Amino acid sequence: MADRVLITTDDLEQAVRVNASLEQAGFDTAMVSSLDDVRAAVRSREPDAMVLTGGLHESTAQRLLAAAREHAVSTLGLVEPTDADPTQVGRELGLTGWLKKPVDPGEVTATVRRLIERRRLQQRTGILGESPAIQEVLVKIEQMAPVTSTVLIEGESGTGKELVARAVHDLSPRHGKAFIAVNCAALPETLLESELFGHEKGAFTGAAERRLGRFELANGGTIFLDEVGEMTPSTQVKLLRVLEDRTFFRVGGTQPIRVDVRVIAASNRSLKEAVARGTFRDDLFYRLNVLSVYLPPLRERRSDIPLLVRTFIAEFAKQHDRNFHGITPDALQIIVDADWPGNVRQLKNLIESMVVLAPEGEIRSRDIPSDIREGSRGLPVRIETGRTVAGQELEFIFRSLVELKLQLEDLRRRIDDKPAERVEVIEVGGGSEGRRQIEASVDPLDPSPESPSPVIYKPGMSMSDVERAAIDAALRETHGNRRKAAENLGIGERTLYRKLKEYAID
Ligand SMILES: Nc1ncnc2c1ncn2[C@@H]1O[C@H](COP(=O)(O)OP(=O)(O)OP(=O)(O)O)[C@@H](O)[C@H]1O
Ligand SMILES: [Mg+2]
Repeated sequence: MADRVLITTDDLEQAVRVNASLEQAGFDTAMVSSLDDVRAAVRSREPDAMVLTGGLHESTAQRLLAAAREHAVSTLGLVEPTDADPTQVGRELGLTGWLKKPVDPGEVTATVRRLIERRRLQQRTGILGESPAIQEVLVKIEQMAPVTSTVLIEGESGTGKELVARAVHDLSPRHGKAFIAVNCAALPETLLESELFGHEKGAFTGAAERRLGRFELANGGTIFLDEVGEMTPSTQVKLLRVLEDRTFFRVGGTQPIRVDVRVIAASNRSLKEAVARGTFRDDLFYRLNVLSVYLPPLRERRSDIPLLVRTFIAEFAKQHDRNFHGITPDALQIIVDADWPGNVRQLKNLIESMVVLAPEGEIRSRDIPSDIREGSRGLPVRIETGRTVAGQELEFIFRSLVELKLQLEDLRRRIDDKPAERVEVIEVGGGSEGRRQIEASVDPLDPSPESPSPVIYKPGMSMSDVERAAIDAALRETHGNRRKAAENLGIGERTLYRKLKEYAID
């Protein structure tokens, strides 16, 4: 099927010429006036690219560009000769590409083709964003993929460094071989060295067998050294040797081992500054920094946020099987304006939790946590030691929280969906310390104490009341067998133990 291109008719003469050239090149084209309902045109025709022939500074063009960005449609703007700096205009307007008038229609066609190819690249790699910064990153990925030179990727936590590293590998001739990621900050020095280079039997206490390191496992493929700035000086020297002559020794080994591995390194702090501080070797820095990519923080490319939000909502609605309509304009505005110190990861996690929890099947302003609404200064979290919890640790904490929330949701749904197995919760007085006491009633038609206890929700009950009652009933049903009770409730045994403690059930 031919690629579809929309052409605006603001500069009618250009539009006609561009249209003819694109048609001749085999594109499926349509001309639209900016005064038409362009949003509808974008939605119904699902173009692959759009050419704006003029009126770039008009509000109609701005609306068109916003719609294009939301639908991940590439935009090529034809900038007036009176605009001194087309690059600046392009960046300010958030165009994907731009050409200064007068333009040759053939050049427009070639550029449109390139933009469409880049969009395909985004679909392949999962790297979203129409901002010039992300487009530049994509161009670099295309250039870096075919060669074997070392790449250094820098950017704050959650900006997509690993995503970019995988894209470089996936688009490279090595894509059929291993991509092996090692987090250099996660392990103490000796373990990291053994992890990277392997060890011989008996190299140290506990080294009962010879073990291959990540460099050997990545042979023919790519190794991704995450948080490379955290390496100790001694490991830095060993890495330098691998980069210089592609050989290394297993820990405790005497035979040099030769490998063919492409190295991609990442750091969420500036390595150049680490060199200036004296914590990172300058010769290693230059070896790593042959090719480099910088991923700017999300707050410096806010124009990408609506597209990210829309895509993540659709993704998580599908994943959690939720009928979800989207987000209200004012809620989206709050999200666009927030700081996002945890960058795309933080945004993605928040969208997931809101898709799971927003009661209306739509994200509204009030569903957004207050720290985000107030400028999002909540993350990264500082803990008592003064250390910053970021990246994967934060992801782990978040995952655990979402998991808990999902379990509760699931529990609620089970209770809602199965009226036949309801649990009756009766309030019996105020309880000794004012705590509510709960009892499960027995179905009058089946007086057998063995039968499943019905659980009934009463107005005014909180989620924890229902949960407590369900746990009580499940325990009774399984004659106090906690493992079975947890299984029946669809939660982990440890979660059940925690809840028993929390609700003081024994
Ligand atoms: N441009 C983007 N488009 C779509 N998803 C993105 C983008 N950038 C990041 N993500 C998503 O955000 C999350 C974090 O990305 P990634 O792990 O690559 O970040 P990172 O820079 O390696 O973070 P850290 O420094 O904490 O390790 C991932 O789920 C990733 O898919
Ligand atoms: Mg990472």
